[in-house]
Amino acid sequence: MNNVEELPFSAPAERNKESILQVLQRLLPREARVLEIASGWGQHAQHFARRQAGWAWQPSDVDASRLPMIDTRCAGIANARPALHLDVVATPWPASISDGAPYDALLCVNMLHASPWATCPGLMRGAAAHLARGGLLILYGPYRVDGVPTVPSNEAFDADLKARDPTWGLRALADVQREAEAVGLGLREVVPMPANNLIVVFARSE
Ligand SMILES: C[S@@+](CC[C@H](N)C(=O)[O-])C[C@H]1O[C@@H](n2cnc3c(N)ncnc32)[C@H](O)[C@@H]1O
Repeated sequence: MNNVEELPFSAPAERNKESILQVLQRLLPREARVLEIASGWGQHAQHFARRQAGWAWQPSDVDASRLPMIDTRCAGIANARPALHLDVVATPWPASISDGAPYDALLCVNMLHASPWATCPGLMRGAAAHLARGGLLILYGPYRVDGVPTVPSNEAFDADLKARDPTWGLRALADVQREAEAVGLGLREVVPMPANNLIVVFARSE
């Protein structure tokens, strides 16, 4: 896999990468160690690492067949590390995932609704173990928020997800927050994003 133009890609990632980058640039310092969970096709790793040379970017995914594609996309970007295999449900995560130095941030885009619920507590346990004190867990995706009906397009998306896999589906922000708080990650901020998505920021206590 050498020609980036011919690689498979995610259309949503192309649409959302710039708006996510703008929020990350506000949340993160110029120099930061970032672990990306569920990097998928690698478009976010490529875009974010290229635009912020001070971010040491570590992509990962459970799907080992995707790792070469991520590396091809990030080839030549000095601050992008070779993609690692990581299943967030694994307990514990392999120590090699942070190589002895905790991360300033973990980023997870569009995974929680496209995987079984067990990925949520798994992600929280791993984040608590591999984030520095005060480090951020940053989630992006569509969520159900108490008292606010989701828009019809999100309901249709939820039905489509469940048709593909009955264990998938939109998650309630309150359920995600409960799992985060159980491991010492407090809700810091919720940022409305285009197309009825949210960025949800949790922080590990100091
Ligand atoms: C909808 S894709 C999103 C990919 C990418 N973040 C993006 O926004 O383009 C969901 C990703 O979650 C990954 N995933 C699913 N279960 C996982 C797990 N248990 N641990 C880590 N990644 C997982 C899949 O392999 C897939 O790459």
